[in-house]
Amino acid sequence: MDALLTALDTALRTLSGANHAARPCPRPGVEAAPLDETQRRLAGALMRVNHVGEVCAQALYSAQALTSRDPALRRQFDAAARDETDHLAWTQQRLRELGARPSLLNPLWYGGAFAIGLLAGRAGDAVSLGFVVETERQVEQHLEGHLARLPEGDLASRAIVARMKEDEARHADAAGAAGGQALPAPMRWAMRAAARVMTATAHHL
Ligand SMILES: [Fe+2]
Ligand SMILES: [Fe+2]
Repeated sequence: MDALLTALDTALRTLSGANHAARPCPRPGVEAAPLDETQRRLAGALMRVNHVGEVCAQALYSAQALTSRDPALRRQFDAAARDETDHLAWTQQRLRELGARPSLLNPLWYGGAFAIGLLAGRAGDAVSLGFVVETERQVEQHLEGHLARLPEGDLASRAIVARMKEDEARHADAAGAAGGQALPAPMRWAMRAAARVMTATAHHL
């Protein structure tokens, strides 16, 4: 019952935007020139996609913590989820600064990711951890791509994305070290395909 309430609380906080970062938002060392309208729009769209990614991260970790029976593993999922809450709050703040809005479909993304997290969790801890490894690696690559696409002068978004990328790599390593099992190729492809649908949609909606 407690665990269910925690999961419900996470969902409500994520979707209402009531998130508080434990760590300060990464900031660039130097002051950047203001962005022009085209750059601001592009940065807003890319950061909306990243915000959706973090909404999904909340749902995945929440569902996986709910289904895992190993207390040590639940603690690991919770620790990673705290980093994801920072990411969520940072991207949300950056969206506001860019004058962009979060995805209108966030409840849908959350629900879908939660269902996938439950499935991964039900498949057992080794698969669940393997799913974390694969997800975090794919996110890391995705963020690398965004560092190439974000406007050169958007130092504020870049600082956030660069820090997130470091954190996701650490989450993947930790899940691998905890016994994450390599996922079969068709599952990895399906995850990539789902991520492509999500990123393409969230760019606009
Ligand atoms: Fe994240
Ligand atoms: Fe992560």
